[in-house]
Amino acid sequence: MEPVRLVILGRQGSGKGTQCVRLVDALGPVHISTGDMLRAAVAEGTDLGLRAKALMDAGDLVPDDVMIGIVSERLAKPDVVEHGFLLDGFPRTPAQAEALEEILGGTDSVRAVNLVVPADEATARMLDRGRDDDTEEAIRRRLDLYETSTAPLLAWFGDHGLLSVVDGLGTEDEVFERLRSAIEGVPA
Ligand code: AP5
Ligand code: MG
Repeated sequence: MEPVRLVILGRQGSGKGTQCVRLVDALGPVHISTGDMLRAAVAEGTDLGLRAKALMDAGDLVPDDVMIGIVSERLAKPDVVEHGFLLDGFPRTPAQAEALEEILGGTDSVRAVNLVVPADEATARMLDRGRDDDTEEAIRRRLDLYETSTAPLLAWFGDHGLLSVVDGLGTEDEVFERLRSAIEGVPA
């Protein structure tokens, strides 16, 4: 089987990270979560972490050029080339989507899934999770930015014939089974 090369889209709190962990176990690709990478940089106190922390705490986006640099480096690593990837949290803006197309040399080998969870349920999940940036204000800002910057990418992936839509409501097991059949049913 060809390696999975998939972008997981869906608003904040929709369960992307949760499901990616399971999909990695089941299907073997490398999980590339830009949020996890940034949180690791914050924890290590690197230049990137210092720069990103205030933006993340406020629910703002880290600049495109920074994110594109991080992701293009990661996508070039041998484990990703060999095993494929699940991109979680990237692309998030039209500039990031264009950069991804360039990095991959087109869109022939990539597919996307939109994990759909309404904003009120996503908000409740995040408040329950209680990460550093899960304050009411930062959540509102993230969800607003999702509508203005990220949701338009759904149309872009849809227009390119690359998008499947999966209902993200229900138990984690139910969502996982839906995602898995969407992914396995989509030719790479
Ligand atoms: P990021 O880490 O991507 O955070 P986010 O956008 O807020 O998305 P989440 O991680 O909250 O959502 P998720 O879909 O992974 O949900 P999860 O599985 O945790 O980004 C953080 C910040 O980094 C951004 O604000 C930005 O500053 C920066 N950043 C990152 N990427 C960037 C980029 N490309 N460009 C610019 N800036 C960038 O689930 C949520 C909760 O729900 C969990 O507690 C989980 O246990 C629970 N849950 C999951 N599934 C279910 C279920 N089926 N039923 C009930 N509860 C569930
Ligand atoms: Mg996440």
